[in-house]
Amino acid sequence: MKAEINGVSIEFDDQGDGLPVIFIHGFPLNRAMWEEQASFLSPHCRVITVDMRGFGGSSAPEGPYQMSEMASDVRGLMSHLSIDRAALAGLSMGGYVALAFHRDYPESVRGLVLADTRATQDTKEARERRLQNADKVEREGAHVVVDEMIPLLLSRQTLKSRPDVVRHVRSIAARTSATAIAGALRGMAQRADSLDLLPSIGRPTLVLVGSDDEATPPKEAEAMHRLIPGSTFRLISEAGHLSNVENPLEFNTAILEFVSSMRS
Ligand code: MLT
Repeated sequence: MKAEINGVSIEFDDQGDGLPVIFIHGFPLNRAMWEEQASFLSPHCRVITVDMRGFGGSSAPEGPYQMSEMASDVRGLMSHLSIDRAALAGLSMGGYVALAFHRDYPESVRGLVLADTRATQDTKEARERRLQNADKVEREGAHVVVDEMIPLLLSRQTLKSRPDVVRHVRSIAARTSATAIAGALRGMAQRADSLDLLPSIGRPTLVLVGSDDEATPPKEAEAMHRLIPGSTFRLISEAGHLSNVENPLEFNTAILEFVSSMRS
């Protein structure tokens, strides 16, 4: 399905009934990364998966793609679907967007799932690397960043012994244009620190992280969990940064428990 939001054509899927849960993908991927979650969870809740501006089937304006702009796209999609409040589940870049959403529209948040993400802004070095990569991708093409990202997205074990998973993730990333990659890199480089926000999150929150996530390591996720009052923390075993793809069974079970606890 498509909707015109903030002048951008946004593609999304909407399946199931009940509590709306909006899934926000990581970088440089698209909503296809949530396939296993959509099929498992849609008998239990309303699952909305959305391609952020630039990614998947959504149109790709020039960047930078600010986290607050992507949050506004999500809010616009909710209005389009006549949803006042939803749970947001964001992985990595999707988590940055979910935190920006909570900052700008706290009354629209029913709950948060923060997966393999962090609340801190980039270090100076990380910011510079992103900006260099944005320039490089525009000069040399999307593949330079996609090739660099794949080893960061998956655990060493997955990279070594699960070629089907590596191929699947690569095929999702391969769809992403240089415009989207550069736009998101520049937006992520400019994102605000959200640490100050964490103690004021007054909604049920689930923090998930792959046990072997090297991009956003478990200790950062635990630190986030400690700062969010009443939050729940789950370590997803045998998974790297893409914990939902590498261990969907544990990831889905944790979300189902979370969704059920919000209904009760
Ligand atoms: C992601 O998976 O979305 C990226 O690792 C986010 C980032 O580059 O910070």
